[in-house]
Amino acid sequence: MPSNIRLHEVIDVARSPAECFALVADFSTIADWDPGVAASSKISEGAVGLGSQFRVVVQSGIGPFKNRFPMDYRITAYEPDARVVLEGTSKQCDGIDTISFTPIAGGTRIDYTADLTLKTLGDGAVKLMGPLLERVGKRAVAGLKRALDSQPIAKPSPWRDLGDKLLLPGAARFTSWGSGRQAIADRLDGQTIVLTGPTSGLGLAAAHRLSQLGARLVLIGRNVNKLADTADALSRTTGNAPRAQLVADLSLVAETRAVLEQLADFGPIDALVNNAGALFNQRGETAEGIEQTLAVDLLSPFLLAEGLRPQLAASGRGRVVNVASGGMYLQGLSLGDLQWAARPYDGTKAYAQAKRGLVALTKLWAERWAGDGIAVHAMHPGWADTPGVADALPGFKRVMGKLLRNSDDGADTMVWLAANPQVQAHSGLFWLDRKPHTTEVVRNTAVNADKAAALRDALIALAGAVRPA
Ligand SMILES: NC(=O)c1ccc[n+]([C@@H]2O[C@H](COP(=O)([O-])OP(=O)(O)OC[C@H]3O[C@@H](n4cnc5c(N)ncnc54)[C@H](OP(=O)(O)O)[C@@H]3O)[C@@H](O)[C@H]2O)c1
Repeated sequence: MPSNIRLHEVIDVARSPAECFALVADFSTIADWDPGVAASSKISEGAVGLGSQFRVVVQSGIGPFKNRFPMDYRITAYEPDARVVLEGTSKQCDGIDTISFTPIAGGTRIDYTADLTLKTLGDGAVKLMGPLLERVGKRAVAGLKRALDSQPIAKPSPWRDLGDKLLLPGAARFTSWGSGRQAIADRLDGQTIVLTGPTSGLGLAAAHRLSQLGARLVLIGRNVNKLADTADALSRTTGNAPRAQLVADLSLVAETRAVLEQLADFGPIDALVNNAGALFNQRGETAEGIEQTLAVDLLSPFLLAEGLRPQLAASGRGRVVNVASGGMYLQGLSLGDLQWAARPYDGTKAYAQAKRGLVALTKLWAERWAGDGIAVHAMHPGWADTPGVADALPGFKRVMGKLLRNSDDGADTMVWLAANPQVQAHSGLFWLDRKPHTTEVVRNTAVNADKAAALRDALIALAGAVRPA
């Protein structure tokens, strides 16, 4: 009793056929743009191409009537930038999606046909379901159009800032109730992106997505085996092997400098993502005699950004993305005691102070480096369930439970800031879920330009004075 239905939509989008094709043919992104899909992933290895397979979890209905079922798709025709056919199968239905891409003035015409065979419904039921399925198809294609048309960049908003200042509504945005992962249609093919901390949590999620977008990744990690595993996983899942893997314990100035020396031969660098970070519940000093939170969360991102400035400038579109934290909102910057030697140590406060410093430097660099064409962004990933959170904040993880975001959602803004060309014109801001937010919630915690410049001087002095390990 299988019954057939055809859905057909045509849309025009302001983006090249190559970018449209890349987003659509990689069906693992469909959950990012089709509201009727709860999850999607690539289940075959290597680059997307003929024979690639995807698992898509289709969702329908609402509330208690919500129904989810998996469908497995395979690419059965693959004509780069022009046409792709995906054939899907599940217990409930089979589908053939035929999508073609035609260049038009200023963009691409996308012709999307879905031929569905409903296995469990007869003709009568399908007639009733027809209008509903058509609505689902229209919503999917409207989502695709939204994903492919460049969206305006959100401006700073006093209302959003007020939400942050009221703390509770502000903090609710940090949870899985925030907007989460969205589609990215901008490509990074050929762009060299240096990413620290790619071996776990948010960095690992960002590495996968950047690699999927075509970036030539330079991975910096402290553990040679974890780095090799990460590089293997990226090559296997996306077919895009990293450009390089560099080993460095970023808590050490000497190793950070050594990695900069290695990077000096890499030519122009399009983006640096300062993601590596840690929260230490006990005060400790590195072998070079620097308090470890300051060393990992502030000094090393500082040295990397300053050291890579000429190569970022050479790119002509250089970007720095500093991964900060909303924890910063509760903490000012004590220039006189950056190392927590004069105050009782508190891991959360030390972490927040370091992130506060990184956000202050973001603004300083944005102003000073604008002439080099370098944009500098700070972002907050929200609260995400990562090995770092499980290790440092087990109680927080337990209490928050499912309210924590997953790593993909936490990494979304990080990747978007690295990929979106429009955001180049919005340097120096602090972003959460692709929107700029205030940097001051508690009075007198913000860092003015003079203090940020003094912080820069203090970090230069500190790095210059380290004792050899
Ligand atoms: N998760 C959240 O809710 C949250 C919220 C706000 C901000 N953040 C920030 O997001 C970033 C990523 O955190 P995460 O939650 O994904 O933590 P994670 O799972 O612990 O990952 C941290 C990454 O940093 C690397 N790293 C740590 N210390 C290093 C060192 N000394 N040298 C080189 N690499 C080092 C780790 O390497 P190994 O794999 O070798 O350990 C790992 O790759 C951090 O900057 C964190 O402060 C996270």
